[in-house]
Amino acid sequence: VHAPPPASATIEALRGLGYSLGAAIADLIDNSIAAGAGNVWITAHWSGKDSFIAILDDGRGMSSAELIDVLRLGRPGPGVERSPSDLGRFGLGLKTASFSQARRVTVASRRNSAEGDAFCWDLDHVAQRDEWELLQGAAEGSARHLTALEDMESGTIVLLELLDRVVPTVEASDPMAHSHFLRQLAGVEEHLAMVFHRFLDGTTPDLRLFVNGRDDSHRVRAWDPFLSRHPATIATPIERMNAHRGSVEVQGFVLPHRRRLDEAAFAKAGGPHGWTAQQGFYVYRNRRLLLPGSWLALGGTRAWTKEEPYKLARLRLDIPNTADSDWRIDVRKSLADPPDQIRPRLRDLASYVRDTARRVFAFRGSAAPTEDSAVTYVWLPAPIGRTNQVHYKINREHPAVQLVTEQHRDLKDAVEGMLRTIEQNVPVQRIWVDAIERGEIGDRADPAAVKSALDIIFAEMIRDGRMSARDAKHQLLMIEPFHKYPELIAELDESTEGGALDA
Ligand SMILES: Nc1ncnc2c1ncn2[C@@H]1O[C@H](COP(=O)(O)OP(=O)(O)O)[C@@H](O)[C@H]1O
Ligand SMILES: [Mg+2]
Repeated sequence: VHAPPPASATIEALRGLGYSLGAAIADLIDNSIAAGAGNVWITAHWSGKDSFIAILDDGRGMSSAELIDVLRLGRPGPGVERSPSDLGRFGLGLKTASFSQARRVTVASRRNSAEGDAFCWDLDHVAQRDEWELLQGAAEGSARHLTALEDMESGTIVLLELLDRVVPTVEASDPMAHSHFLRQLAGVEEHLAMVFHRFLDGTTPDLRLFVNGRDDSHRVRAWDPFLSRHPATIATPIERMNAHRGSVEVQGFVLPHRRRLDEAAFAKAGGPHGWTAQQGFYVYRNRRLLLPGSWLALGGTRAWTKEEPYKLARLRLDIPNTADSDWRIDVRKSLADPPDQIRPRLRDLASYVRDTARRVFAFRGSAAPTEDSAVTYVWLPAPIGRTNQVHYKINREHPAVQLVTEQHRDLKDAVEGMLRTIEQNVPVQRIWVDAIERGEIGDRADPAAVKSALDIIFAEMIRDGRMSARDAKHQLLMIEPFHKYPELIAELDESTEGGALDA
């Protein structure tokens, strides 16, 4: 039994998929990118119910026959093998995205200077006839919005008109409706700057995107969610995880504390939805952002939720388009679900990044509680020149070092040589990897090991009555790592002096 869906009801249902204007335009730009476009020009013109939005690209374009084919729902289908760089998926994007915003969609395309052609889905016409009837040529009065294509060798333009979801049916002179339109447009720009930031970034970007103009002042600038060029951003090493269909790549970032940015930069870094909403994983498919911040239902006994203290945690997650079914990518490309195989690993890494982010947030700018300048630390950060690099040096003032160098001056050079060797060979990469594998860095070392070091240092401090036990204990309370173990310090044997610690 041949039982095709009624055209009118199907289209109306598809209109309700829930695209925002920004998401719809992003889906059209996906096609432009897949068609090899280097430039996309968006024109959004306000004129009440005659308002229109046009998306023009300089990609490879299509022939008439191709155009008719791809304007059909579900062409090309999801079963078609796609090039690894293709951003499409179900053969629905162009149609569902356009219908979600407009009742009239005209697509004109031209390839290698051949005569261009235009076809139009007019939803009122479809509703009237209840047939999948594509109209040839532009509607009356619409052709003038397609003229930009004439000057190009190859390219495609998608014209959205009768924007019933964008502008309510109002007169062009309504100032409220006009400003509402402009606000939506600003939101679209922000959305595109985020979704395509990896295409838009750099001095020779893969894609240039313009809104309502062709010169540089109309170019959409990339929004980098990771502030990856800011010196105070902490990044974990890039990690590759193997899943069934192609490997994924993950990198964690802890963004700088508010104090490290000026007010405007901090507000901008928050992103279109704000700091708290934009924490978590940023999932990319072929460098195109699908999800702008989500904890992907990972977590402990309960899934993590977005909370203020973790707002500086963001992770970049790249998935290949070969793994769409594993990740359950939906039509709108707005959902992604990590396969079970890599969930534990993602959870561990995310948990580490979250933890570090919470510390930066709480300690106002540095991952370690270095705020307490009274404490004598074992390691001291020493910036190298004007680069972003930091080198860590063993603190020569630390009593564990001083006791040796002062009492055994003959060993001074040897000790210095030993310390420098250690400093220059800190296994930074290994520490990162191990920390990520265990999910966290322990704040407290093994108390037994601390105790034995404490006993040795304490004995040296009070040897031959050099210092009273009481003073030594007071000092130890301000010396790393013993300052974290006041209970061990209190228990130290004071038999040599007999005084009690009263602090
Ligand atoms: N701007 C464009 N330039 C060239 N070809 C395009 C363009 N937009 C759409 N197409 C063609 O139309 C097809 C269908 O697009 P679409 O409905 O978005 O589905 P999908 O992107 O999932 O393939 C694309 O695969 C592509 O071949
Ligand atoms: Mg598409």
